[in-house]
Amino acid sequence: MPDHKIRWGVISTANIGRAAVLPAIQASRNGELVAVASRDGAKAAEFAAQLGIPRSCGAYEELLAAADIDAVYIPLPNSLHREWTVKSAEAGKHILCEKPLALNPAECAEMADAARAHNVKLMEAFMYRFHPRTAKVLELMASGVIGELRLIRAGFTFRLTNPANIRLQADLGGGSLMDVGCYCVNLSRTVAGREPLRAQALASWGATGVDEQMVGLLEFSGGLPAQFDCALTLERREFYELAGTAGSLFVPGSFLPGAADALIYERHGRAGETVHRVPGVDQYRLMVEAFADCVLADLPVPYPPDEAAANLAAMAALYRSAHNNGQPVNV
Ligand SMILES: NC(=O)c1ccc[n+]([C@@H]2O[C@H](COP(=O)([O-])OP(=O)(O)OC[C@H]3O[C@@H](n4cnc5c(N)ncnc54)[C@H](OP(=O)(O)O)[C@@H]3O)[C@@H](O)[C@H]2O)c1
Repeated sequence: MPDHKIRWGVISTANIGRAAVLPAIQASRNGELVAVASRDGAKAAEFAAQLGIPRSCGAYEELLAAADIDAVYIPLPNSLHREWTVKSAEAGKHILCEKPLALNPAECAEMADAARAHNVKLMEAFMYRFHPRTAKVLELMASGVIGELRLIRAGFTFRLTNPANIRLQADLGGGSLMDVGCYCVNLSRTVAGREPLRAQALASWGATGVDEQMVGLLEFSGGLPAQFDCALTLERREFYELAGTAGSLFVPGSFLPGAADALIYERHGRAGETVHRVPGVDQYRLMVEAFADCVLADLPVPYPPDEAAANLAAMAALYRSAHNNGQPVNV
């Protein structure tokens, strides 16, 4: 590997790669984008030309066999994350894989084992964690401005209109919880600082068998509830609110704030509110740079696969409850 830079390959011509992650790799201080692979060689070549990627491969295996690639970014449909993460680990590539890392905790454990056995890094690409606003929220909470955290609320919804979208395909790991609710679960576990004990959920199942909408509740020790909603059927909404005994924090545009300043409303009832402004930044670039730093310095990634497995365990419990008309279940 050249000094101070890792050489990236990307597995598939996914929209999220084109829109956000590949430009972030190209802009990163410690990475270069070497190749893209697609199941279709012509599609790979066209994608590479459009994005200025030096090389294209007509098969994912061809990219994994390349000696000049240190790490892969995997933005495949969720049902394919396990297979291609394991194959990438076996090929000796470090792996940044899209969220949710796997379909369930057992798959996640298999992926973690493969990464460990082949001595490569594996991290789930929840980019919002790398936005400095997330650290600012945690800092405000730790400073005690809201007192004791007593309620978490989160929502992430948008409206899908294309029936062919991977999010509507049950066999590809689609569904609103898998796609956007996973952020609400991740955020809730992060601010709670512990794992939920129980879960309840109600879902609206679409014609293709995926949860098109879900309302969920996670219960943490100490009687701390986290309630959330996620949907592929509603207008775009994304927010979270952390309510405490002495105040609350309201975070709009919570997962995709874009390049604009990211806001945190610190509220104290009739005593008024303070708006904290965190300068806009490319959170995808911060994520790929943080991952590449860990590869280059051989340091543990900040969010190891165990963390992803815990998120998936909470999600699995929510699905169990949703399939059982909202009965409470243990996580
Ligand atoms: N972090 C974020 O902000 C964010 C945002 C959106 C999505 N995501 C995640 O990124 C992943 C990809 O989402 P996306 O919306 O970008 O997907 P997408 O545009 O539908 O792309 C998925 C790619 O996977 C490849 N593929 C392989 N087998 C496939 C199959 N059976 N059906 C469909 N595609 C197949 C295709 O590439 P080839 O034809 O080139 O092989 C396709 O372009 C998901 O895990 C999603 O949760 C993350």
